[in-house]
Amino acid sequence: MNNFVYDIPVKVYFGENQLQHLGEELSKFGTRVLLTYGGGSIKKIGLYDKVIAEIERAGLEVFELSGIEPNPRIDSVRRGAQMCKDHNIDVLLAVGGGSTLDATKFMAAGACVDHDPWDFLSEKWAPITKALPIVTILTLSATGSEMDPGGVISNPETQDKIGRLAAPMLPKVSFLDPTLTYSVSPYQTACGSADMISHILEVYFNMEQDLYMLDCFMEGLLKTIIKFTPVAIEKPDDYEARANLMWASSWAINGFVNGGKRLAWSCHPIEHELSAIYDITHGLGLAIVTPRWLEYCLDETTVSKYVQFGVNVFDIDPNQEPMAIAHQAIDRLSEFLFDTLGLSRTLTEIGITAEHFPIMAKKACGGKILPGFKHLTPADVEKIFEMCL
Ligand code: NZQ
Ligand code: ZN
Repeated sequence: MNNFVYDIPVKVYFGENQLQHLGEELSKFGTRVLLTYGGGSIKKIGLYDKVIAEIERAGLEVFELSGIEPNPRIDSVRRGAQMCKDHNIDVLLAVGGGSTLDATKFMAAGACVDHDPWDFLSEKWAPITKALPIVTILTLSATGSEMDPGGVISNPETQDKIGRLAAPMLPKVSFLDPTLTYSVSPYQTACGSADMISHILEVYFNMEQDLYMLDCFMEGLLKTIIKFTPVAIEKPDDYEARANLMWASSWAINGFVNGGKRLAWSCHPIEHELSAIYDITHGLGLAIVTPRWLEYCLDETTVSKYVQFGVNVFDIDPNQEPMAIAHQAIDRLSEFLFDTLGLSRTLTEIGITAEHFPIMAKKACGGKILPGFKHLTPADVEKIFEMCL
């Protein structure tokens, strides 16, 4: 078992009516706030007015950047980094889903350098050694961006969607109020849960030696998501369901479940090629890819992990042949994603053809190999894409 470092210093205010602490938290970092948000959902749910009121009550000065896209674009990051410089911003306040939070992280880092923020993500891979402080208010349970140091940015010019982790981009404080997710549509709720499930499976399906305790924790998270997503879709203002999903989203990816595992993720690089070219919702792409990836990686050397997953998460009868259990486990996951949550089952259904698969597969592997659960070559990834048609 590998050694590891546990270090997740994000202060979380969880629950209703916590925004009263927003002003005091922002004030710790200065007086000039850049408020960032997406296409306007925060105005529709009345959150924008509350945030402004709290900022004003604390006597802070606010500047605004709106219109951050789902699958956020590098141009939004550039605008935000420039605003930070022009207005001498002390702290960024990101209010929204993962896209707003991710873009804001790179704005905060971009504000501290003279070069183009895309240099952080392009082949130049410019170091991220500093970022302005970030506070977040989460409105969609999915990415875990509220409690991790990562972000993913798209560049339509190069058709790239690239993610990066950097400690300075970790939010200082995150406000997690489940009631803010009541307005999330059934579709986005489903996609968010597919994303969380994938974050866990990327770590769970791994041939490095596992910590039993972390595997149990991941199984608990999976069961939580499987139990509460249909409830939240059926009854969007079910507090217990929304609260469970919100806290699960953070813990699925905040680094805790990794322990000392070092293998790369597989479905995420594959999915990012889909959302880079076709601008689809990240969680939908993952829902389509994940069961096919599991199918592709199943063999005698990996089957024991599928058995553990099937028995512990889906209560499949353990008194069967391992391969039979493994196939049932993949089927149960597919049923959950496509039948219970109602997500599209294939790439064909969402209008994606095989046209760009060769180049997408190559990019997903960084040109050579994707060193995950099963090491995948571009030819393997192309086959997985084909299984998704
Ligand atoms: O833009 P607005 O108007 O806010 O609407 C958004 C958007 O249209 C809407 N929404 C958000 N909160 C809402 C709401 N609608 C009604 N009520 C609310 N309370 O939902 C739509 C999707 O929002 P978005 O932020 O794009 O979704 P999500 O949180 O799923 O973020 C997806 C992005 O995060 C990246 C993905 O690749 C994708 O670009 N990821 C980030 C990760 C990270 N930072 O660690 C990890 C993930 O694996 C993922 O790659
Ligand atoms: Zn994800």
